[in-house]
Amino acid sequence: MKSLVQKLVETPGPSGFEYEIRDVIREAISDFADEIRVDTLGNLIARKGAKSGKGVRVMVSAHIDEIGLMATHISEEGFIRFTNIGGINPLTCYGGRVLFMNGTRGVIGMEGVEAGKTPKLSNLFIDVGATSKEDCPVKVGNVCGFERPFLDLGKRWVAKSMDDRIAAVIAIEALKRIEKTPHEIFFVFSTQEEVGLRGATTAAYGVDPDVGFAVDVTRSGDTPKPSAKMATALGDGAAIKVRDASFIADPRLVDFMVKTAEDADIPYQLEVLEAGGTDGRAIQLTRSGVPAGCISVVCRYIHSPSEMVDADDVENSIKLLVKLLSNEIVL
Ligand code: CO
Ligand code: ZN
Repeated sequence: MKSLVQKLVETPGPSGFEYEIRDVIREAISDFADEIRVDTLGNLIARKGAKSGKGVRVMVSAHIDEIGLMATHISEEGFIRFTNIGGINPLTCYGGRVLFMNGTRGVIGMEGVEAGKTPKLSNLFIDVGATSKEDCPVKVGNVCGFERPFLDLGKRWVAKSMDDRIAAVIAIEALKRIEKTPHEIFFVFSTQEEVGLRGATTAAYGVDPDVGFAVDVTRSGDTPKPSAKMATALGDGAAIKVRDASFIADPRLVDFMVKTAEDADIPYQLEVLEAGGTDGRAIQLTRSGVPAGCISVVCRYIHSPSEMVDADDVENSIKLLVKLLSNEIVL
């Protein structure tokens, strides 16, 4: 599984440009899904199982896009100015390396920041080693992601875009491990989450589920001096979302998720996230409304090039998802 994590986090795919990562995931699931399709927004949708007995149609959503940068202007000297795709903190950029979808690599430079002041995106630029606008291989509108290799620290794993490739790994593993299910399950590897849950919005409409689960990362409250008190911690288990800023998980579904975890002896923690959203919102608000919940993986340093998760949390999230999808869902 670790090699799958590495492959997924090292494949670029800023929001709207998920074609490479989609191909990698399609390859990984092709032997395990009953049917695979790609919709207009580029969501990869894999069906497993058919409805029987008390089964329902379930949507599981893990987003495969990542935060990135888009070129807005190339100077005569060949420097690239850029805007953000999704939530980019300028503090995490300086000195970082980027990889454009056309294969061009570069570094992020900074200028004009007063001592003691925090940089803005407008203080930053990308240097790809070009000497003029003419020999710059990047054009306006080209996109890049951060480039950083997977780091295995044993129990803890670090990479750019753990948000949300670790959830894609969880969905892929669940798809592989489910042996018997009464449900018709649609695993959606969604696009454009970081710019506003856009892929999951059309995917949920198309799948028309009876119930849905997002899988995503959430913040941790276990660093030296967290500014906001948060109960989640690395290694404390799969996080069951109660709410985030985008939706309130269906309380009946939260209770069912908790009971499922307890009955199966799967370590879990409850998550209340005050800022940030997930595909759960898009599922909940589709058509005339759908009961939706979310399994979260607690993650440190979200939206930096070094996002850290706990290997046991990942395994426990897979176990919980498999359990949830293998038996009748009681609300
Ligand atoms: Co994110
Ligand atoms: Zn995410």
